[in-house]
Amino acid sequence: MNLQGKKVVLGVSGGIASYKSVSLARLLIKAGVSVTTVMTTAATKFVQPLTFQTITGRPVFYDMFNDDFQENIGHIKVPEQADCFIIAPATANIIAKIACGLADDFLSTSVLANNSPLYLAPAMNTNMWNKAIVQENIEKLKARGISIIPPTSGLLACQTVGLGKMAEPESIVKFLVKNPEFQSNSNNGLLNGIKVLVTAGPTREKIDAVRYISNYSSGKMGFAIAEYCLSQGAKVTLVSGPVALMPPEGINFISVQSADEMFEAVMANAPQNSLIIKSAAVSDYKIEKPDPGKNKKRVNLKLNLIQNRDILKTLGKQKSKNQYLVGFAAESENLEAYARKKLLDKQLDLIVANNILEPGAGFDGDTNIVSLINATDVLQLPQQSKFMVAEKIIQKIVSDPKWAQIKNYNP
Ligand code: CTP
Repeated sequence: MNLQGKKVVLGVSGGIASYKSVSLARLLIKAGVSVTTVMTTAATKFVQPLTFQTITGRPVFYDMFNDDFQENIGHIKVPEQADCFIIAPATANIIAKIACGLADDFLSTSVLANNSPLYLAPAMNTNMWNKAIVQENIEKLKARGISIIPPTSGLLACQTVGLGKMAEPESIVKFLVKNPEFQSNSNNGLLNGIKVLVTAGPTREKIDAVRYISNYSSGKMGFAIAEYCLSQGAKVTLVSGPVALMPPEGINFISVQSADEMFEAVMANAPQNSLIIKSAAVSDYKIEKPDPGKNKKRVNLKLNLIQNRDILKTLGKQKSKNQYLVGFAAESENLEAYARKKLLDKQLDLIVANNILEPGAGFDGDTNIVSLINATDVLQLPQQSKFMVAEKIIQKIVSDPKWAQIKNYNP
């Protein structure tokens, strides 16, 4: 992640979502960020300061009048060195205080003393979120250049379903990564200046004008890889089949439908890229003669399926010595043996193998359980978010001795 060496102040105000801020702190720490936590008194009722202190390895600030904190005028010093200040969760109360310029505790005074970009991840009950005064405060803050990481919809702690759930820690990190203050030291990225082509999602093969065959791929794995590569300073082209995800900002995004379209887009772009990661779940078959109109209902419909071209295999055949090719293997049995066969047959440098029947792995979820297999070894990874899997894949690639020659070549 391109957050290495950054300094972040994490403000935690008093809502039930504050337990999620512990994961946020952990994700930031793992990404090489130095995190200083500031809590409101109410937040300390939900999570002990000691939890943040242990995770971040730094003191936690919450008491304005504690001697230790005052020694260096803490509320002035804490934000002084920050690259950014993020409040997660941001309750209606802290939002209102910031909107009014109130400064009556450690967190609100630190915000007022802060000069770095400020991010708020609101979390509250739907009725509170929908109140005109809260929305007015939000608009006022946006107008002053404060970034709002929007809450999502879901089951809230008050047992109602609606808007007001704090964005998940990983979405918050993704949001931060995209922002300029985190892009500025892109020289430190693992893929600085490298051109990367990623494929994602399923393909759709037309049966007729209204029907198609496809698979359950959500595109989340490929999108996570593309976003991670971007955060590492890469120039990313993402070729994706139809998915319900927003194209990441800063990425050259090419949308396709069928395997044939994906083939053409990948072949047109492959020569300009040093690293190609094919995580798309390409349909192996297409309908020989799709009906240009709508097929009328009948008792038995026989579809004549013919094989699609194997995009990855074609890439393997054409691969130059300055290209690094990564494939995926979706298996339901004999994981390692089948993946190894694909590694050889398709002339890959690395294959990411997953057993799609294992709970927590596969197509549609937010997590994956994969093994990274190359000619010499196998790295079995535990279940983790697709974003973290993306990080592990890139770390594996850049630690391969072959990578040294690739990274010095810029097609
Ligand atoms: N792939 C491809 N073009 C195809 C089929 C697959 O580029 N027509 C790529 C996928 O993007 C993936 C890898 O090949 O990176 C392996 O895909 P997978 O579905 O696991 O295997 P297949 O080669 O299709 O073989 P099988 O379905 O028999 O396991």
